[in-house]
Amino acid sequence: MNNMDLLVSLSKRRGFVFQSSEIYGGTGSCWDYGPLGVELKNNIKRVWWRDFVQARADMVGIDASILMHPTVWKASGHLDHFTDPMVDCRECKHRFRADHLDALAWVHYCPATKGNKFTIPAGEPCGHCGQRRTLCPNCGKGELTPPRQFNLMFKTFMGPVEEEAALTYLRPETAQAMFVNFDNVLQSMRLKLPFGIAQAGRSFRNEITPGNFIFRTREFEQMEIEYFVNPNDRVEGRPADEYWHDRWIEDCLAWFRRYGLREENLRLREHERDELAHYAKRTVDIEYNFPIGWSELMGIANRTDFDLKQHAKWSGKSLTYFDEDRKEHVVPYVVEPAAGVDRALLAFMADAYREEEVRGEKRVLLRLHPELAPVKVAVLPLLKKRDDIVRAAQAVRADLAKHWRVVYDDTAAIGRLYRRQDEVGTPYCVTVDVQTVGDGERGETGDGRVTIRERDSMEQIRVLVAELAGVFRELLAGAAWPSVAGRYPPARG
Ligand code: GAP
Repeated sequence: MNNMDLLVSLSKRRGFVFQSSEIYGGTGSCWDYGPLGVELKNNIKRVWWRDFVQARADMVGIDASILMHPTVWKASGHLDHFTDPMVDCRECKHRFRADHLDALAWVHYCPATKGNKFTIPAGEPCGHCGQRRTLCPNCGKGELTPPRQFNLMFKTFMGPVEEEAALTYLRPETAQAMFVNFDNVLQSMRLKLPFGIAQAGRSFRNEITPGNFIFRTREFEQMEIEYFVNPNDRVEGRPADEYWHDRWIEDCLAWFRRYGLREENLRLREHERDELAHYAKRTVDIEYNFPIGWSELMGIANRTDFDLKQHAKWSGKSLTYFDEDRKEHVVPYVVEPAAGVDRALLAFMADAYREEEVRGEKRVLLRLHPELAPVKVAVLPLLKKRDDIVRAAQAVRADLAKHWRVVYDDTAAIGRLYRRQDEVGTPYCVTVDVQTVGDGERGETGDGRVTIRERDSMEQIRVLVAELAGVFRELLAGAAWPSVAGRYPPARG
Protein backbone atom coordinates (compact mmCIF):
# COMPACT_ATOMS: atom_id res chain seq x y z
CA MET A 1 0.00 0.00 0.00
CA ASN A 2 1.35 3.46 -0.78
CA ASN A 3 1.06 6.27 1.75
CA MET A 4 -2.11 7.73 0.22
CA ASP A 5 -3.84 4.32 0.39
CA LEU A 6 -2.74 3.96 4.02
CA LEU A 7 -4.24 7.35 4.84
CA VAL A 8 -7.48 6.64 2.97
CA SER A 9 -7.82 3.33 4.77
CA LEU A 10 -6.99 4.79 8.21
CA SER A 11 -9.40 7.67 7.56
CA LYS A 12 -12.28 5.34 6.86
CA ARG A 13 -11.47 2.77 9.55
CA ARG A 14 -11.07 5.35 12.31
CA GLY A 15 -13.75 7.85 11.40
CA PHE A 16 -11.77 10.70 9.81
CA VAL A 17 -13.11 10.76 6.25
CA PHE A 18 -15.79 8.73 4.46
CA GLN A 19 -16.80 8.79 0.82
CA SER A 20 -19.88 10.94 0.36
CA SER A 21 -23.11 8.95 -0.12
CA GLU A 22 -21.09 5.74 -0.01
CA ILE A 23 -24.12 3.43 0.31
CA TYR A 24 -25.29 4.74 -3.10
CA GLY A 25 -21.92 4.11 -4.68
CA GLY A 26 -20.41 7.46 -3.74
CA THR A 27 -20.55 10.97 -5.22
CA GLY A 28 -17.68 11.93 -7.52
CA SER A 29 -14.85 13.39 -5.44
CA CYS A 30 -16.99 14.50 -2.53
CA TRP A 31 -16.02 13.41 0.96
CA ASP A 32 -17.65 13.47 4.40
CA TYR A 33 -15.69 14.17 7.55
CA GLY A 34 -16.47 11.66 10.30
CA PRO A 35 -16.39 12.13 14.09
CA LEU A 36 -12.59 12.44 14.31
CA GLY A 37 -12.20 14.22 10.97
CA VAL A 38 -14.54 17.02 11.95
CA GLU A 39 -12.59 17.57 15.19
CA LEU A 40 -9.29 17.73 13.29
CA LYS A 41 -10.73 20.05 10.66
CA ASN A 42 -12.29 22.34 13.26
CA ASN A 43 -9.00 22.45 15.15
CA ILE A 44 -7.12 23.49 12.00
CA LYS A 45 -9.61 26.30 11.33
CA ARG A 46 -9.63 27.33 15.00
CA VAL A 47 -5.85 27.71 15.33
CA TRP A 48 -5.67 29.47 11.95
CA TRP A 49 -8.32 31.95 13.09
CA ARG A 50 -6.72 32.39 16.49
CA ASP A 51 -3.20 32.95 15.10
CA PHE A 52 -4.06 35.08 12.07
CA VAL A 53 -7.17 36.97 13.20
CA GLN A 54 -7.68 36.98 16.96
CA ALA A 55 -4.02 37.48 17.90
CA ARG A 56 -3.36 40.31 15.42
CA ALA A 57 -4.38 43.92 15.81
CA ASP A 58 -4.41 44.40 12.02
CA MET A 59 -6.90 41.61 11.18
CA VAL A 60 -10.68 41.18 11.29
CA GLY A 61 -12.93 38.41 10.03
CA ILE A 62 -16.18 37.96 8.14
CA ASP A 63 -18.49 35.08 7.29
CA ALA A 64 -20.20 35.84 3.99
CA SER A 65 -22.90 33.99 2.11
CA ILE A 66 -21.90 31.44 -0.50
CA LEU A 67 -24.41 32.73 -3.05
CA MET A 68 -23.43 36.18 -4.26
CA HIS A 69 -24.75 38.60 -6.84
CA PRO A 70 -23.93 37.10 -10.27
CA THR A 71 -22.22 40.34 -11.37
CA VAL A 72 -19.54 39.64 -8.76
CA TRP A 73 -18.27 36.86 -11.03
CA LYS A 74 -18.34 39.06 -14.12
CA ALA A 75 -16.36 41.75 -12.31
CA SER A 76 -13.86 39.31 -10.78
CA GLY A 77 -13.12 37.76 -14.17
CA HIS A 78 -14.33 34.30 -13.13
CA LEU A 79 -17.06 34.17 -15.78
CA ASP A 80 -14.57 34.85 -18.56
CA HIS A 81 -11.34 33.39 -17.25
CA PHE A 82 -12.01 30.73 -14.61
CA THR A 83 -11.69 27.93 -17.11
CA ASP A 84 -9.53 24.87 -17.66
CA PRO A 85 -8.81 23.34 -21.09
CA MET A 86 -10.57 19.99 -21.36
CA VAL A 87 -10.12 17.12 -23.84
CA ASP A 88 -12.09 13.88 -24.21
CA CYS A 89 -11.08 10.50 -25.57
CA ARG A 90 -13.29 9.58 -28.53
CA GLU A 91 -12.99 5.84 -27.64
CA CYS A 92 -13.12 5.36 -23.86
CA LYS A 93 -14.74 8.78 -23.18
CA HIS A 94 -12.19 9.50 -20.43
CA ARG A 95 -11.86 13.23 -19.75
CA PHE A 96 -8.57 15.04 -19.10
CA ARG A 97 -7.26 18.50 -18.40
CA ALA A 98 -5.27 19.26 -21.54
CA ASP A 99 -2.54 20.94 -19.50
CA HIS A 100 -2.14 17.84 -17.30
CA LEU A 101 -1.74 15.30 -20.13
CA ASP A 102 2.05 15.31 -20.14
CA ALA A 103 2.11 14.57 -16.41
CA LEU A 104 0.28 11.24 -16.88
CA ALA A 105 1.72 7.78 -17.43
CA TRP A 106 0.34 6.52 -20.77
CA VAL A 107 -0.86 3.25 -22.23
CA HIS A 108 0.84 2.29 -25.49
CA TYR A 109 0.33 -0.60 -27.93
CA CYS A 110 3.83 -0.77 -29.39
CA PRO A 111 4.09 -1.50 -33.15
CA ALA A 112 7.73 -2.60 -32.69
CA THR A 113 6.65 -5.47 -30.37
CA LYS A 114 3.64 -6.82 -32.33
CA GLY A 115 1.30 -4.44 -30.54
CA ASN A 116 2.21 -5.44 -26.97
CA LYS A 117 0.71 -3.20 -24.31
CA PHE A 118 3.01 -1.07 -22.12
CA THR A 119 2.40 1.61 -19.53
CA ILE A 120 5.05 4.27 -20.11
CA PRO A 121 6.09 6.82 -17.44
CA ALA A 122 4.83 10.38 -17.86
CA GLY A 123 6.64 12.46 -20.45
CA GLU A 124 8.84 9.57 -21.71
CA PRO A 125 8.87 8.01 -25.20
CA CYS A 126 8.37 4.25 -25.74
CA GLY A 127 11.68 2.45 -25.14
CA HIS A 128 11.04 0.06 -28.06
CA CYS A 129 9.63 2.15 -30.92
CA GLY A 130 10.62 5.63 -29.66
CA GLN A 131 7.11 7.02 -30.20
CA ARG A 132 5.76 9.76 -27.94
CA ARG A 133 2.15 9.83 -26.75
CA THR A 134 -0.41 11.16 -29.22
CA LEU A 135 -3.48 9.10 -28.28
CA CYS A 136 -5.52 8.77 -25.09
CA PRO A 137 -3.20 8.00 -22.14
CA ASN A 138 -5.93 5.91 -20.49
CA CYS A 139 -6.90 3.41 -23.23
CA GLY A 140 -3.99 3.96 -25.63
CA LYS A 141 -6.37 3.74 -28.63
CA GLY A 142 -8.66 6.74 -28.85
CA GLU A 143 -8.00 10.09 -30.51
CA LEU A 144 -8.36 13.08 -28.21
CA THR A 145 -10.75 15.93 -29.05
CA PRO A 146 -9.28 19.42 -29.50
CA PRO A 147 -9.15 21.31 -26.15
CA ARG A 148 -12.33 23.16 -25.12
CA GLN A 149 -12.42 25.77 -22.38
CA PHE A 150 -14.60 24.60 -19.50
CA ASN A 151 -15.81 27.03 -16.81
CA LEU A 152 -15.32 25.56 -13.35
CA MET A 153 -18.15 27.43 -11.63
CA PHE A 154 -21.23 25.50 -10.54
CA LYS A 155 -24.41 27.12 -11.82
CA THR A 156 -27.55 27.29 -9.76
CA PHE A 157 -30.85 29.22 -9.78
CA MET A 158 -32.16 31.72 -7.24
CA GLY A 159 -35.89 31.41 -6.64
CA PRO A 160 -38.41 28.93 -8.01
CA VAL A 161 -38.01 29.66 -11.73
CA GLU A 162 -35.10 28.14 -13.61
CA GLU A 163 -34.46 30.87 -16.14
CA GLU A 164 -31.42 32.86 -17.27
CA ALA A 165 -32.41 35.85 -15.11
CA ALA A 166 -32.29 33.73 -11.96
CA LEU A 167 -28.90 32.19 -12.79
CA THR A 168 -26.20 32.47 -10.16
CA TYR A 169 -23.13 30.52 -9.04
CA LEU A 170 -21.74 28.71 -6.04
CA ARG A 171 -18.66 30.71 -5.10
CA PRO A 172 -15.42 29.22 -6.44
CA GLU A 173 -13.36 31.11 -3.84
CA THR A 174 -14.17 32.93 -0.60
CA ALA A 175 -12.02 35.91 -1.59
CA GLN A 176 -14.59 37.95 -3.49
CA ALA A 177 -16.74 38.49 -0.40
CA MET A 178 -13.83 40.32 1.22
CA PHE A 179 -13.56 42.67 -1.76
CA VAL A 180 -17.25 43.45 -2.06
CA ASN A 181 -17.41 44.06 1.72
CA PHE A 182 -14.24 46.16 1.74
CA ASP A 183 -16.04 49.44 2.39
CA ASN A 184 -18.50 47.94 4.92
CA VAL A 185 -15.62 46.56 6.97
CA LEU A 186 -13.45 49.67 6.59
CA GLN A 187 -16.21 52.02 7.74
CA SER A 188 -17.77 49.88 10.47
CA MET A 189 -14.44 48.98 12.09
CA ARG A 190 -12.67 52.35 11.44
CA LEU A 191 -9.56 50.59 10.16
CA LYS A 192 -6.25 52.03 9.01
CA LEU A 193 -4.09 50.51 6.28
CA PRO A 194 -2.51 48.02 6.34
CA PHE A 195 -5.26 45.68 7.52
CA GLY A 196 -6.63 42.32 6.53
CA ILE A 197 -10.00 40.59 6.28
CA ALA A 198 -10.13 36.83 6.83
CA GLN A 199 -12.73 34.25 6.07
CA ALA A 200 -12.96 30.47 6.28
CA GLY A 201 -15.71 28.74 4.37
CA ARG A 202 -16.85 26.48 1.58
CA SER A 203 -15.97 26.90 -2.07
CA PHE A 204 -17.09 24.89 -5.08
CA ARG A 205 -15.33 24.08 -8.33
CA ASN A 206 -16.53 21.71 -11.00
CA GLU A 207 -13.00 20.31 -11.40
CA ILE A 208 -12.45 18.34 -14.62
CA THR A 209 -10.13 15.84 -12.97
CA PRO A 210 -10.71 15.85 -9.23
CA GLY A 211 -9.10 13.12 -7.22
CA ASN A 212 -6.31 12.00 -4.97
CA PHE A 213 -8.63 11.67 -2.00
CA ILE A 214 -9.32 15.10 -0.44
CA PHE A 215 -6.52 16.82 -2.37
CA ARG A 216 -8.70 18.04 -5.25
CA THR A 217 -12.44 17.90 -4.70
CA ARG A 218 -15.47 19.70 -6.07
CA GLU A 219 -16.59 21.02 -2.70
CA PHE A 220 -13.90 22.13 -0.26
CA GLU A 221 -13.09 24.68 2.39
CA GLN A 222 -10.72 27.59 2.12
CA MET A 223 -9.09 29.85 4.71
CA GLU A 224 -8.36 33.10 2.92
CA ILE A 225 -6.99 36.47 3.91
CA GLU A 226 -7.14 39.66 1.88
CA TYR A 227 -4.47 41.98 3.31
CA PHE A 228 -4.90 45.55 2.07
CA VAL A 229 -1.88 47.85 1.87
CA ASN A 230 -1.31 51.41 0.70
CA PRO A 231 0.58 51.12 -2.62
CA ASN A 232 2.20 54.51 -2.02
CA ASP A 233 3.76 53.43 1.27
CA ARG A 234 7.25 52.03 1.60
CA VAL A 235 8.31 49.63 4.32
CA GLU A 236 12.00 49.04 5.00
CA GLY A 237 12.79 50.82 1.74
CA ARG A 238 10.50 48.63 -0.39
CA PRO A 239 7.02 49.13 -1.87
CA ALA A 240 4.53 48.14 0.86
CA ASP A 241 2.80 45.46 -1.26
CA GLU A 242 6.09 43.70 -2.01
CA TYR A 243 7.24 43.90 1.61
CA TRP A 244 3.95 42.48 2.92
CA HIS A 245 3.89 39.78 0.28
CA ASP A 246 7.19 38.42 1.56
CA ARG A 247 6.09 38.80 5.18
CA TRP A 248 2.97 36.74 4.55
CA ILE A 249 4.96 34.03 2.77
CA GLU A 250 7.25 33.74 5.82
CA ASP A 251 4.36 33.84 8.30
CA CYS A 252 2.40 31.14 6.48
CA LEU A 253 5.43 28.86 6.15
CA ALA A 254 6.16 29.34 9.86
CA TRP A 255 2.55 28.50 10.68
CA PHE A 256 2.66 25.15 8.89
CA ARG A 257 5.99 24.32 10.56
CA ARG A 258 4.63 25.31 13.96
CA TYR A 259 1.82 22.77 13.68
CA GLY A 260 4.06 19.93 12.66
CA LEU A 261 4.91 19.92 8.94
CA ARG A 262 8.55 18.98 8.61
CA GLU A 263 10.96 21.38 6.95
CA GLU A 264 12.03 18.81 4.34
CA ASN A 265 8.41 18.41 3.18
CA LEU A 266 7.85 22.12 2.53
CA ARG A 267 9.13 24.32 -0.27
CA LEU A 268 8.24 27.55 -2.07
CA ARG A 269 7.44 27.76 -5.78
CA GLU A 270 7.40 31.03 -7.64
CA HIS A 271 4.77 31.20 -10.42
CA GLU A 272 6.21 31.74 -13.89
CA ARG A 273 5.05 34.85 -15.76
CA ASP A 274 2.89 32.82 -18.14
CA GLU A 275 1.06 30.92 -15.40
CA LEU A 276 0.18 33.94 -13.25
CA ALA A 277 -3.58 34.39 -12.72
CA HIS A 278 -5.14 37.28 -14.60
CA TYR A 279 -5.13 39.42 -11.43
CA ALA A 280 -1.68 38.67 -10.04
CA LYS A 281 1.56 40.69 -10.04
CA ARG A 282 3.40 37.85 -8.29
CA THR A 283 2.30 34.52 -6.77
CA VAL A 284 4.24 32.10 -4.62
CA ASP A 285 2.91 28.66 -3.71
CA ILE A 286 3.80 26.83 -0.56
CA GLU A 287 4.18 23.27 -1.79
CA TYR A 288 4.04 20.16 0.34
CA ASN A 289 5.52 16.78 -0.45
CA PHE A 290 2.13 14.99 -0.45
CA PRO A 291 1.95 11.21 -0.98
CA ILE A 292 1.23 12.11 -4.65
CA GLY A 293 4.43 14.22 -4.85
CA TRP A 294 5.18 17.93 -4.49
CA SER A 295 1.93 19.87 -4.93
CA GLU A 296 0.33 23.16 -3.95
CA LEU A 297 -0.71 23.45 -0.32
CA MET A 298 -1.55 27.15 -0.49
CA GLY A 299 -0.94 30.17 -2.68
CA ILE A 300 0.11 33.69 -1.68
CA ALA A 301 -0.67 36.20 -4.41
CA ASN A 302 -0.14 39.91 -4.85
CA ARG A 303 -3.47 40.78 -6.52
CA THR A 304 -2.65 44.50 -6.80
CA ASP A 305 -5.71 46.78 -6.97
CA PHE A 306 -7.35 44.61 -9.64
CA ASP A 307 -10.32 43.37 -7.60
CA LEU A 308 -11.27 46.61 -5.87
CA LYS A 309 -11.06 48.50 -9.18
CA GLN A 310 -13.15 45.90 -10.97
CA HIS A 311 -15.87 45.90 -8.31
CA ALA A 312 -15.88 49.71 -8.24
CA LYS A 313 -16.32 49.73 -12.02
CA TRP A 314 -19.12 47.15 -12.11
CA SER A 315 -21.00 48.31 -8.99
CA GLY A 316 -20.54 52.05 -9.52
CA LYS A 317 -19.48 52.35 -5.82
CA SER A 318 -16.24 53.90 -4.73
CA LEU A 319 -13.91 51.35 -3.10
CA THR A 320 -11.07 53.60 -1.98
CA TYR A 321 -9.24 54.47 1.21
CA PHE A 322 -8.59 58.04 2.32
CA ASP A 323 -4.90 58.49 3.08
CA GLU A 324 -4.94 61.17 5.85
CA ASP A 325 -1.22 61.95 5.53
CA ARG A 326 -1.23 62.56 1.80
CA LYS A 327 -4.83 63.82 1.73
CA GLU A 328 -5.71 61.60 -1.18
CA HIS A 329 -7.97 58.66 -2.01
CA VAL A 330 -6.12 55.49 -2.95
CA VAL A 331 -7.20 52.07 -4.15
CA PRO A 332 -5.34 49.65 -1.86
CA TYR A 333 -3.25 46.78 -3.17
CA VAL A 334 -4.03 43.38 -1.74
CA VAL A 335 -1.85 40.46 -0.70
CA GLU A 336 -3.80 37.21 -0.53
CA PRO A 337 -2.68 34.19 1.51
CA ALA A 338 -5.15 31.51 0.36
CA ALA A 339 -5.08 28.06 1.96
CA GLY A 340 -7.25 24.97 1.57
CA VAL A 341 -8.51 23.42 4.79
CA ASP A 342 -8.83 19.93 3.30
CA ARG A 343 -5.36 20.08 1.77
CA ALA A 344 -3.92 21.30 5.05
CA LEU A 345 -5.65 18.41 6.82
CA LEU A 346 -4.21 15.92 4.32
CA ALA A 347 -0.72 17.39 4.78
CA PHE A 348 -0.95 17.32 8.58
CA MET A 349 -2.14 13.70 8.52
CA ALA A 350 0.48 12.61 5.98
CA ASP A 351 3.29 14.25 7.94
CA ALA A 352 2.08 12.82 11.24
CA TYR A 353 1.70 9.24 10.01
CA ARG A 354 4.44 6.94 11.38
CA GLU A 355 4.98 3.24 11.67
CA GLU A 356 7.34 2.12 14.43
CA GLU A 357 8.44 -1.17 15.90
CA VAL A 358 7.90 -1.43 19.64
CA ARG A 359 8.94 -4.63 21.43
CA GLY A 360 8.69 -6.57 18.18
CA GLU A 361 5.24 -5.21 17.30
CA LYS A 362 4.21 -2.62 14.72
CA ARG A 363 2.91 0.61 16.22
CA VAL A 364 1.02 3.00 13.92
CA LEU A 365 0.76 6.52 15.20
CA LEU A 366 -0.27 9.97 14.10
CA ARG A 367 2.17 12.42 15.65
CA LEU A 368 -0.32 15.25 15.35
CA HIS A 369 0.39 18.51 17.14
CA PRO A 370 -1.64 18.41 20.40
CA GLU A 371 -3.59 21.48 19.30
CA LEU A 372 -4.70 19.68 16.15
CA ALA A 373 -5.29 16.22 17.62
CA PRO A 374 -9.01 15.34 17.41
CA VAL A 375 -9.00 13.88 20.92
CA LYS A 376 -6.73 15.43 23.53
CA VAL A 377 -7.03 12.83 26.27
CA ALA A 378 -8.36 9.26 26.42
CA VAL A 379 -9.31 7.95 29.84
CA LEU A 380 -8.89 4.19 30.17
CA PRO A 381 -9.76 1.97 33.13
CA LEU A 382 -7.24 -0.79 33.71
CA LEU A 383 -9.93 -3.22 34.89
CA LYS A 384 -13.39 -2.70 33.48
CA LYS A 385 -14.90 -5.27 35.85
CA ARG A 386 -14.08 -3.13 38.89
CA ASP A 387 -16.97 -0.68 39.36
CA ASP A 388 -14.92 1.67 41.51
CA ILE A 389 -12.21 1.94 38.81
CA VAL A 390 -14.80 2.50 36.07
CA ARG A 391 -16.61 5.13 38.16
CA ALA A 392 -13.35 6.95 38.91
CA ALA A 393 -12.34 6.86 35.23
CA GLN A 394 -15.71 8.20 34.08
CA ALA A 395 -15.51 10.99 36.65
CA VAL A 396 -12.05 11.94 35.34
CA ARG A 397 -13.38 12.00 31.77
CA ALA A 398 -16.37 14.15 32.72
CA ASP A 399 -14.15 16.62 34.56
CA LEU A 400 -11.56 16.98 31.78
CA ALA A 401 -14.26 17.10 29.09
CA LYS A 402 -15.38 20.48 30.45
CA HIS A 403 -12.23 21.86 28.81
CA TRP A 404 -11.22 19.55 25.97
CA ARG A 405 -12.40 16.69 23.75
CA VAL A 406 -11.83 13.71 26.04
CA VAL A 407 -13.03 10.14 25.47
CA TYR A 408 -13.51 7.10 27.67
CA ASP A 409 -12.79 3.62 26.32
CA ASP A 410 -12.96 0.25 28.06
CA THR A 411 -13.63 -1.99 25.08
CA ALA A 412 -10.27 -3.81 25.02
CA ALA A 413 -7.16 -4.61 27.04
CA ILE A 414 -4.93 -1.66 27.88
CA GLY A 415 -2.24 -2.40 25.25
CA ARG A 416 -4.81 -2.41 22.49
CA LEU A 417 -6.49 0.73 23.86
CA TYR A 418 -3.16 2.58 23.76
CA ARG A 419 -2.56 1.47 20.17
CA ARG A 420 -6.01 2.67 19.12
CA GLN A 421 -5.35 6.11 20.57
CA ASP A 422 -1.84 6.28 19.03
CA GLU A 423 -3.35 5.59 15.62
CA VAL A 424 -5.67 8.61 15.81
CA GLY A 425 -3.08 10.92 17.32
CA THR A 426 -4.37 11.28 20.90
CA PRO A 427 -1.42 12.91 22.68
CA TYR A 428 -2.23 11.71 26.21
CA CYS A 429 -3.90 8.72 27.83
CA VAL A 430 -4.92 8.59 31.46
CA THR A 431 -5.15 5.19 33.10
CA VAL A 432 -7.08 4.57 36.29
CA ASP A 433 -5.96 1.45 38.15
CA VAL A 434 -6.17 -0.40 41.49
CA GLN A 435 -3.52 1.90 42.98
CA THR A 436 -5.72 4.90 42.23
CA VAL A 437 -8.80 3.68 44.06
CA GLY A 438 -7.28 1.15 46.48
CA ASP A 439 -8.85 -2.15 47.49
CA GLY A 440 -11.90 -1.66 49.77
CA GLU A 441 -12.15 -5.39 50.59
CA ARG A 442 -8.63 -5.39 51.97
CA GLY A 443 -9.18 -2.05 53.66
CA GLU A 444 -6.57 -0.35 51.42
CA THR A 445 -7.18 3.21 50.33
CA GLY A 446 -5.95 4.41 46.96
CA ASP A 447 -3.25 7.02 46.37
CA GLY A 448 -5.58 9.18 44.27
CA ARG A 449 -3.02 9.17 41.43
CA VAL A 450 -3.55 8.14 37.81
CA THR A 451 -1.05 7.36 35.06
CA ILE A 452 -0.54 9.81 32.22
CA ARG A 453 1.05 8.24 29.14
CA GLU A 454 2.55 10.47 26.48
CA ARG A 455 1.99 9.29 22.89
CA ASP A 456 5.38 9.89 21.27
CA SER A 457 7.79 8.83 24.03
CA MET A 458 5.32 6.38 25.62
CA GLU A 459 6.66 7.62 28.98
CA GLN A 460 4.32 7.39 31.93
CA ILE A 461 4.03 9.49 35.09
CA ARG A 462 1.78 9.33 38.17
CA VAL A 463 -0.28 12.46 38.83
CA LEU A 464 -2.89 13.26 41.47
CA VAL A 465 -6.40 13.36 40.00
CA ALA A 466 -6.84 16.79 41.57
CA GLU A 467 -3.84 18.10 39.56
CA LEU A 468 -4.83 16.56 36.21
CA ALA A 469 -6.64 19.55 34.72
CA GLY A 470 -3.73 21.85 35.62
CA VAL A 471 -1.19 19.48 34.06
CA PHE A 472 -3.17 19.20 30.82
CA ARG A 473 -3.71 22.94 30.74
CA GLU A 474 0.08 23.32 30.70
CA LEU A 475 0.74 20.52 28.23
CA LEU A 476 -2.01 21.52 25.82
CA ALA A 477 -0.86 25.14 25.91
CA GLY A 478 2.47 23.95 24.50
CA ALA A 479 4.64 23.03 27.51
CA ALA A 480 7.24 20.41 26.60
CA TRP A 481 6.52 16.96 28.01
CA PRO A 482 9.96 16.53 29.73
CA SER A 483 9.59 19.81 31.63
CA VAL A 484 6.20 18.76 33.01
CA ALA A 485 6.95 15.04 33.43
CA GLY A 486 10.12 15.84 35.39
CA ARG A 487 8.00 17.08 38.29
CA TYR A 488 6.15 13.77 38.77
CA PRO A 489 7.18 10.23 39.73
CA PRO A 490 7.39 7.78 36.83
CA ALA A 491 4.74 5.06 36.68
CA ARG A 492 5.88 1.51 37.34
CA GLY A 493 5.72 -1.01 34.48
N1 GAP B 1 -8.61 33.20 -3.90
C1 GAP B 1 -7.49 32.57 -4.47
C2 GAP B 1 -7.69 31.13 -4.65
O1 GAP B 1 -8.77 30.60 -4.48
P1 GAP B 1 -6.44 28.96 -5.36
O2 GAP B 1 -4.97 28.68 -5.49
O3 GAP B 1 -7.31 28.62 -6.51
O4 GAP B 1 -6.54 30.49 -4.99
C3 GAP B 1 -6.41 28.41 -2.81
O5 GAP B 1 -7.01 28.22 -4.07
C4 GAP B 1 -6.25 27.08 -2.10
O6 GAP B 1 -7.51 26.42 -2.03
C5 GAP B 1 -5.33 26.08 -2.81
O7 GAP B 1 -3.97 26.32 -2.51
C6 GAP B 1 -5.81 24.77 -2.24
O8 GAP B 1 -5.24 24.54 -0.96
C7 GAP B 1 -7.30 25.02 -2.08
N2 GAP B 1 -8.03 24.45 -3.23
C8 GAP B 1 -8.24 25.01 -4.43
N3 GAP B 1 -8.95 24.19 -5.24
C9 GAP B 1 -9.21 23.08 -4.51
C10 GAP B 1 -9.91 21.86 -4.76
N4 GAP B 1 -10.52 21.63 -5.92
N5 GAP B 1 -9.95 20.92 -3.78
C11 GAP B 1 -9.37 21.14 -2.59
N6 GAP B 1 -8.69 22.28 -2.29
C12 GAP B 1 -8.61 23.23 -3.23
